[in-house]
Amino acid sequence: MIRRAAIASYEAEMNVVLYASKGTMELRVTPKHIRVTVEDEGPGIPDVELAMQEGYSTASDEIREMGFGAGMGLSNIKKNADAFTIRSLVGKGTTLEIAFRL
Ligand SMILES: Nc1ncnc2c1ncn2[C@@H]1O[C@H](COP(=O)(O)OP(=O)(O)OP(=O)(O)O)[C@@H](O)[C@H]1O
Ligand SMILES: [Mg+2]
Repeated sequence: MIRRAAIASYEAEMNVVLYASKGTMELRVTPKHIRVTVEDEGPGIPDVELAMQEGYSTASDEIREMGFGAGMGLSNIKKNADAFTIRSLVGKGTTLEIAFRL
């Protein structure tokens, strides 16, 4: 569970670093759950369904040279989470809510 939470948090964090202007990550831990909320200000995602697909990426050559841009991050978050929601407004930003059951 900690491993799943770490993988999902890392993927969400890297997306903020690579695509958004700034963001916050909030971690709430209770005896039953870990909840991670990642909120950024940035370009947003025009087509969330498309962005969720494995292999879809808009990463630039510069990002790819650093080893990112396989288009696996969002699907990896979904795979590792027990609950996952993503909301995005183009020109505003993106919010992810990711939850794990202990
Ligand atoms: N926080 C975000 N703000 C704006 N666009 C985003 C954000 N997160 C993801 N995206 C868009 O969704 C696409 C898919 O994201 P995903 O994390 O699945 O893959 P990736 O970041 O391109 O590659 P990988 O995560 O495998 O290194 C990104 O290429 C980008 O276009
Ligand atoms: Mg990513």
